[in-house]
Amino acid sequence: MILVTGATGQIGSKITEGLIQSKADVRVFVRDENHLGDLKNENIQVAEGTFEDMESLEKALEGVDRLMLIGQDNPDQVQQHLNVIQAAKRQGVKHIVKLSAFGADKNSPVALMRDHAEIEDAIKDSGMEWTFIRPHLYMQNLLRFGDSVAENNTFLAPMAHDAYSLVDIRDVAEVAATILTTENHNSKIYTLTSPHAENYDEIAETLSSLLGKTITYQAQSPKDFERDLLESGTPEWRAYDLAYISKAYKGSDKHLITSDIEDLLGRPARSVKDFLSDHLSTFKN
Ligand SMILES: NC(=O)c1ccc[n+]([C@@H]2O[C@H](COP(=O)([O-])OP(=O)(O)OC[C@H]3O[C@@H](n4cnc5c(N)ncnc54)[C@H](OP(=O)(O)O)[C@@H]3O)[C@@H](O)[C@H]2O)c1
Repeated sequence: MILVTGATGQIGSKITEGLIQSKADVRVFVRDENHLGDLKNENIQVAEGTFEDMESLEKALEGVDRLMLIGQDNPDQVQQHLNVIQAAKRQGVKHIVKLSAFGADKNSPVALMRDHAEIEDAIKDSGMEWTFIRPHLYMQNLLRFGDSVAENNTFLAPMAHDAYSLVDIRDVAEVAATILTTENHNSKIYTLTSPHAENYDEIAETLSSLLGKTITYQAQSPKDFERDLLESGTPEWRAYDLAYISKAYKGSDKHLITSDIEDLLGRPARSVKDFLSDHLSTFKN
């Protein structure tokens, strides 16, 4: 039995779909089963609970061999996931696959990266088998610019003019489902990137050619980006991490390219152009 946490989220839901297609035995751990959408009608077990509620965690983990651990960035994330690890150990889970992030580092200036590193260490120390999936920044983050592109033909981000090897969450989810249903992934870290690194000016050029009009990228300073987020009601911890995320990647790390997706899936990772083509309606009025 495989338990997927965060199964109502963007990656967890896709992993669950992949596991259903592979005919694996799946249980999902959700705060509210009404958030499951179409997955609610699938042949899966549903366990309701929260990372804060040990009793619900222990119950959900009964009879589980493999755990796909996904949560949401927030200031309590480490304690939430320590609860899951403790409950998994008690219930005899053999293997934890953790959705982490490329850039996970105890000394990162970005809190979510420090949190991922701390959780990874706790999993290693637990004695259970483990696999860490470390995706680079998601291409899906670009969807936040949809309205701005559609209405003003431009988008703002605090990413300067550096190239990033962004990754498509569809590839991340397929990798996770593959790891969960095949062998020989113990003690491995997979770093997931696209096959090319592009800066946001190049992304604007690709959008321009796909939309048939000129789209521009405006590099905003992290400080101004953070101020705008705070003014629009984003919590302080989140505004800081979003504005200063580029600081999580040192030097050439920003545009690191790995073959992990192709090695695991037997096909190349999706490119930004593939991604934008598939989501073009988000950038149109
Ligand atoms: N954005 C990026 O560029 C990027 C890049 C690399 C890695 N990551 C990592 O990706 C992860 C997020 O994945 P995602 O985008 O799929 O997340 P998401 O769509 O935000 O989903 C988060 C899931 O966690 C569940 N959850 C939140 N708090 C919970 C709690 N207290 N108890 C039980 N479940 C809880 C949510 O359930 P509800 O439906 O009840 O809210 C939801 O299913 C983060 O760890 C992030 O650091 C992000």
